Amino acid sequence: MKPALPLTRRESWRALAAHHKKVGKLHLRELFAQDPGRGERMSLEAAGLFLDYSKNRATDETFALLVRLAEEAGLRGRIDAMFSGEKINSTEGRAVLHAALRAPQGAVIKVDGQDVVPEVHAVLERMAAFCAAVRGGGWKGHTGRPVKNIVNIGIGGSDLGPVMAYEALRHYSERSLRFRFVSNVDGIDFAEAVHDLDPAETLFIVSSKTFTTLETMTNAETARDWLLRGLGGDRAAVARHFAAVSTNAAKVSAFGIDTANMFGFWDWVGGRYSMDSAIGLSTMLAIGPENFRAMLAGFRRMDEHFRTAPFDRNMPVLMGLLAVWYGDFFEAQTLAVLPYEQYLKRFPAYLQQLTMESLGKSVTLAGKPVACDTGAVYWGEPGTNGQHSFYQLIHQGTRLIPCDFIAFGRALTPLGRHHDLLLANMLAQAEALAFGKTLAEVKAEGTPEGLAPHRVFAGNRPSNTILAERLTPETLGALVALYEHSVFTQGAVWDINPFDQWGVELGKALAARIIPELESASAPAPGHDSSTASLIRRCRHMKGA
Ligand code: F6P
Repeated sequence: MKPALPLTRRESWRALAAHHKKVGKLHLRELFAQDPGRGERMSLEAAGLFLDYSKNRATDETFALLVRLAEEAGLRGRIDAMFSGEKINSTEGRAVLHAALRAPQGAVIKVDGQDVVPEVHAVLERMAAFCAAVRGGGWKGHTGRPVKNIVNIGIGGSDLGPVMAYEALRHYSERSLRFRFVSNVDGIDFAEAVHDLDPAETLFIVSSKTFTTLETMTNAETARDWLLRGLGGDRAAVARHFAAVSTNAAKVSAFGIDTANMFGFWDWVGGRYSMDSAIGLSTMLAIGPENFRAMLAGFRRMDEHFRTAPFDRNMPVLMGLLAVWYGDFFEAQTLAVLPYEQYLKRFPAYLQQLTMESLGKSVTLAGKPVACDTGAVYWGEPGTNGQHSFYQLIHQGTRLIPCDFIAFGRALTPLGRHHDLLLANMLAQAEALAFGKTLAEVKAEGTPEGLAPHRVFAGNRPSNTILAERLTPETLGALVALYEHSVFTQGAVWDINPFDQWGVELGKALAARIIPELESASAPAPGHDSSTASLIRRCRHMKGA
């Protein structure tokens, strides 16, 4: 569905701009003072997650206008188009069906007239059987020993989801297995990952949608050499020590991996939306098929909520609209995601690909320049570490940085007072950011005149707080789906394609050209700008070429 007018000329946009002039400077102190019930009213539960969005610089009218913006952008039609398998990834001519990866058996979702749900479940069954064999010790390596080490080789979506989910769900993982993740083409990544591993007990999972990615294929070849060196050079060993996750069976087989050990997925699963496809094989190996299915159920609950809830009670829609509100009307450049949960330490890194590869676009679906800023820089660290590092800037710096706090009511491993201290810190940070401390309050504490301005906290720094009872596979699924659909909402409002990533291509192509220039014995022919040419010369010189 094509919106009639360019975004910034639409009625809802203009109304928001006018509204921002009116409310943009309102302080959260005033908003809370005017409405004692605000904290409870502006909250919402879905799929096991609780969202408190009251500490946002927004009034009821703001939310009503943002919802109008979403409606005018045709968000409802776009959601329906995605869930029904339309080829909404128009620049790649593909459907966008990560939601089908968690559809229940019996659901019908068609791509080009073909129901894809049975294939999804067939792959899940095969993954479960493979995991049972490996976890149960029935899968033997080339020398007859069971697998003790699992090394996932992949990059981008073929790494960030698996590593994030492994870390997040470590509590549920099979502790007799060791998991490592190799992504960087820097050989150190591989060398450190395997330095204490025995090849006879090591299984590599080469995860690559395309099976052509430079980093992954280089690491996979290095892994194959390492394995063969360690096991006496018999190439038959590869079949017992390598599995593949890919959409490209021909390349998998050409690499020497038995396609019986290949787990497929489909072109309608984007890399950064693939952690719940076969790309999650390492996750399933770690937590077992049952927990993996529970994670899928969490995704599915959030999918259902996103698909059916009215926009003003729709968690991903509200979070996506708030991101638009801050990015385009307050000119916020970044958004911090701050999990108060050590197991979520890789969640911000995971979200960086999901949000920034999706929303880092400057042309609309029709190829016209966008009329406003698009995706924010997402970043973050787990609490409380960030408090002793960058929170200073969030509290007292000149930039507006909306924050998403994430925490769980109960610790998975209760240890003395730790969890109360952790939660108290999160609650305190959100409170301090919103309400700050005035000059009068600082002075009333007896602070010397000259020091007082340095101790003022302006407050009015917005945040969302997301709470769930415990970090379970199901809550993790719901949390990831929440951000996936928030991204979708933002993409729909901006009328951009959040499912392609052409921006990664130019660097890849130039690297392919520079590789032989670094490796060749003779000096490369001219053809670069003077800076790149001189850096190439220097690199060649430093490596003794
Ligand atoms: O960086 C671009 C990208 O295509 C990502 O979108 C993707 O997740 C990653 O590379 C890895 O791709 P593949 O799974 O095909 O190796």
